Amino acid sequence: MTDQKTPRSLPLSNAITIAAQAIGEVIEGRSLTEVLDQLDAHEKPIVQSLTFDALRKWVRSHEYIKQLIPKTPPPEVEHLLSVAIALIVQGSADGKGYAAHTIVDQAVRACDEYEPTRYAKGMMNAVLRKVSLMVQPVEGVKHYPPDPVPMFFPPWWRASLKKNYPKVWQALLIQQALRAPLILRVNARQHTREQYQALLSQEGITSKPIEELAGIELNSALLLNSPVPVAKLPGFYSGSVSVQDAGAQLAALLLGPQPGERILDACAAPGGKTAHLLELADCEVIALELDGGRLGKISGNLDRLHLYTDSVRVIRGDASKTAWWDGKPFDKILLDSPCSASGIVARHPDIPFLRREADILALQQRQRAILTQAWKMLNLEGLLLYVTCSVFPEEGEEQAIWFAAEHSNALRLVAPGQILPTEVNDGFYYALFKKMGHEPTH
Ligand SMILES: C[S@@+](CC[C@H](N)C(=O)[O-])C[C@H]1O[C@@H](n2cnc3c(N)ncnc32)[C@H](O)[C@@H]1O
Repeated sequence: MTDQKTPRSLPLSNAITIAAQAIGEVIEGRSLTEVLDQLDAHEKPIVQSLTFDALRKWVRSHEYIKQLIPKTPPPEVEHLLSVAIALIVQGSADGKGYAAHTIVDQAVRACDEYEPTRYAKGMMNAVLRKVSLMVQPVEGVKHYPPDPVPMFFPPWWRASLKKNYPKVWQALLIQQALRAPLILRVNARQHTREQYQALLSQEGITSKPIEELAGIELNSALLLNSPVPVAKLPGFYSGSVSVQDAGAQLAALLLGPQPGERILDACAAPGGKTAHLLELADCEVIALELDGGRLGKISGNLDRLHLYTDSVRVIRGDASKTAWWDGKPFDKILLDSPCSASGIVARHPDIPFLRREADILALQQRQRAILTQAWKMLNLEGLLLYVTCSVFPEEGEEQAIWFAAEHSNALRLVAPGQILPTEVNDGFYYALFKKMGHEPTH
């Protein structure tokens, strides 16, 4: 049932309690990644799996809650119910995981173990029993068919996709409501993809290469047939491999780092793309990041991969300003911009709960400020790769068009543009520019 198995197992009732609390934090506006990062290693995989399913099935579970409980319960009970109902619904859909009676028993226990919810354990029991009967197929027919469009996306989001992708918008939403596969990037400094695949298969882990995406050859991407915890991946802690979506693996390949080049990774944390650049060439990299709390993730990743050499500097700074810059221009700049993250919902199902429509234009302004400054720090003949993990054109193609119109010395090179999410990749946007001379001064 869970996306991953735990090294030391957490009782399901405790996991349900922690997941319900995490859901409460997301509803109050906190990023689930931050909430999950605070958990112990043995808690995180199961709690992540429960919260992901609860968010994806939010509308469905709330239909049951509304139908079966006349008065909306207080949030702490509501969130316990939503976690348990999602587990029951998922179990009836894929036939794997916990039996419905176990889920009911453990959810009632979770309710009983926490003083503010104890009063509701009779109701919890009754509601969950009813739900488990309601999800049973009747004469082989599912009593409650799947939603045609996953409804946890807010109306403005659905309307934007419908307008911009009229033929595929529903398929996109359905795709993003599914569990994402585990995709690896093999560290080219340690193994070829084939060598690592053989190591995986010695451990009984089956995988297949992802050869290409958006017309670009991927030489290090492996798709696991079923996800496993990273601790089970051979050589993970000695840097053999990283977890990285196939769409994200295009960034370093498009920028094509060469030995000795001076490269800025302008928005670097947690450092997935920084590491990929360094796996491909002995270049000099500045990994810049605004959020001081995320700097440690970059250095941690680089350390694990044995890439944190004297040629790398991890700096806290704002890419739209110059206070951190020594004035030496860069040969290449990777601008993996802050964005709505609307392309990575399969891996972050809290995103549709956190974003507001007004965020998109505010993000557009931030992206423009960083693009403008980055261009000034680029050498003549240098390359700037603009990247977002968004599917909204306001953050993608509209930005590239705006940028080219603003900078007469920007030559737009071939790059994939908008990549929509599929079963093997998240949604990304890529635009590549070459600096062709000095800009006329006004
Ligand atoms: C999409 S993430 C980068 C992911 C990263 N490139 C990777 O592949 O692992 C964007 C990052 O930009 C950072 N950021 C946002 N505004 C920034 C700014 N003005 N200057 C530098 N970093 C910024 C965010 O804190 C966030 O960590």
